Amino acid sequence: MDFQVVEHDVLVIGAGGAGLRAAIEASAHGVSTGIVCKSLLGKAHTVMAEGGMAAALGNVAMEDNWQVHFRDTMRGGKMLNNWKMAQIHAKEAPERVNELEAWGAVFDRTEDGRILQRNFGGHRYPRLAHVGDRTGLELIRTLQDKGIHQGIEVYMECNVQKLLIDDGRICGAVGYWRPSGKFVLFKAKSIILATGGVGKCFKVSSNSWEYTGDGHALAYHAGADLIDLEFMQFHPTGMVWPPSVKGTLITEAVRGEGGILTNSHGERFMFKNIPEAYKEDTADTLDEAERWYLGEKGARRAPELLTRDVVARAIMKEVNGGRGTAHGGVHLDIASRRPADYIKKKLPSMYHQFKKLADVDITKQPMEVAPTAHYMMGGVRVDAETQESTVQGLYAAGECSAGLHGANRLGGNSLSDLLVFGRRAGYFAAQTAKKKSTFTKVNEAEVDKSFQEMLAPLNKTEGLNPYDVFEKLQDTMSRNVNIAREESELKQALVDLANLKKELPQVKVDGNRDFNPGWHQALDLYALMTVSEAMTRAALERKESRGGHTRVDFPNYDEKFSKINVVIRKKGEEMEVSHIPLPEMTEEISALLVGM
Ligand code: FUM
Repeated sequence: MDFQVVEHDVLVIGAGGAGLRAAIEASAHGVSTGIVCKSLLGKAHTVMAEGGMAAALGNVAMEDNWQVHFRDTMRGGKMLNNWKMAQIHAKEAPERVNELEAWGAVFDRTEDGRILQRNFGGHRYPRLAHVGDRTGLELIRTLQDKGIHQGIEVYMECNVQKLLIDDGRICGAVGYWRPSGKFVLFKAKSIILATGGVGKCFKVSSNSWEYTGDGHALAYHAGADLIDLEFMQFHPTGMVWPPSVKGTLITEAVRGEGGILTNSHGERFMFKNIPEAYKEDTADTLDEAERWYLGEKGARRAPELLTRDVVARAIMKEVNGGRGTAHGGVHLDIASRRPADYIKKKLPSMYHQFKKLADVDITKQPMEVAPTAHYMMGGVRVDAETQESTVQGLYAAGECSAGLHGANRLGGNSLSDLLVFGRRAGYFAAQTAKKKSTFTKVNEAEVDKSFQEMLAPLNKTEGLNPYDVFEKLQDTMSRNVNIAREESELKQALVDLANLKKELPQVKVDGNRDFNPGWHQALDLYALMTVSEAMTRAALERKESRGGHTRVDFPNYDEKFSKINVVIRKKGEEMEVSHIPLPEMTEEISALLVGM
């Protein structure tokens, strides 16, 4: 079989914020570094993280510091976070944001010229450094410039299908070039997965087409542990109309800048949905919320800025209770709250998005919004300091790794996560690579077998359409493993997924290997199937409701599940489900969390 061979000390798979930051760091430590992107460089899904990156810079609220950020993150994650990661993140995020600025990112400014910070859900103080509502785009632009000038090698439009392991340690990866369909073997001393999330398992999602759970599945099949897969975040505000753009993200910055949520009766329903744990710092009257918006010291924050799990569930309660809008959402109104010029300045993308896609002028009319599958808190289990997975030499950072966010991520903590842990993964992967003088010889038969498997759908004369299989997968996940789950539905999803797994070898694709979207879809199905099954099994296992995981049959927290992660591991051809305890907290850390 004809294929190209590429060698790098460190290979990074995924060129969003985490991948780019990792590649920059590895390369800065003198090792040859390659980065693989599924699409073109600069088009990563990170650009869709719009509202900002959370870091306790203390530019707007002087009282902010890493301890408060740490506490907010743990509270938002319902204490299931890996506290060591939450601590590292809160401590290092300011340095990473300042570094990004030094590399050329142009943030919005305070009147005295410092990086401006805005409010976001679950953050006690205005903490999100931002660039209008295009923060992710600016982050990618900056990292891309920095990385290219530093000499990282970029491999665009390339899909990695399998990781190669030798004697329990990573040694390479195989994939194909999307435009030509030709095969490639990457030999590497360390590999960093930074492939993002899994949102394409669902019909309604804010995620781009690349988000098919590739890194999660690659790690799983290479023998690494996955944790917390039951925690899927549904962002409260996705577009609901027109149908062609259903699910597209409406940034939380709309609420951060003063937008409010109302039902079809015009009621600000979030006042009825304040959880016990947030009563102390959430305004429970319109008057107090208004005073908070006006910046009154001591006023408690508006309930629209509760954490995403709470707001998403509250919206669904209104819709299911018959108080929704014509298209099955609620209203998000900034028009009646802020002047048109302010809205266009602070939320330019939202203004254009609604004008162009929905013919709605958000400076004059409210938006229709409903939850959309947005972010997977679960992923590859990694060491808190190094980001190494349970497979030697295999690292993960960003959304495809797990631990920092626990059961629910706070908005804005993802962009800072990418920078903090991308850098760490890059550094430690480089150190590991430096210890190896030569590349491990790969198993040629295994490589050949992988290529034959990739070709299988093209070699059939009859079979199933990959798009039909994809639609059935999205259909069962959207019906049975969505924002509210119960045992019978989760079991149904497992039956459906088992049937689809049997259909996979029957998938047939017409045409040849030259840019063939049907073939790409057929190959993406393997990862989608793996992560869908893992998510469903983990959701079945956790018999309680916590953060992004809601079980209607177990609506409360259960002490039994309060200190464990659900682990998914490959055992032969089976998916094994087990538990591991959360890391023990030190006294000093416990003291920071008193009262939560
Ligand atoms: O709402 C947003 O701008 C999304 C940001 C995030 O998910 O962190």
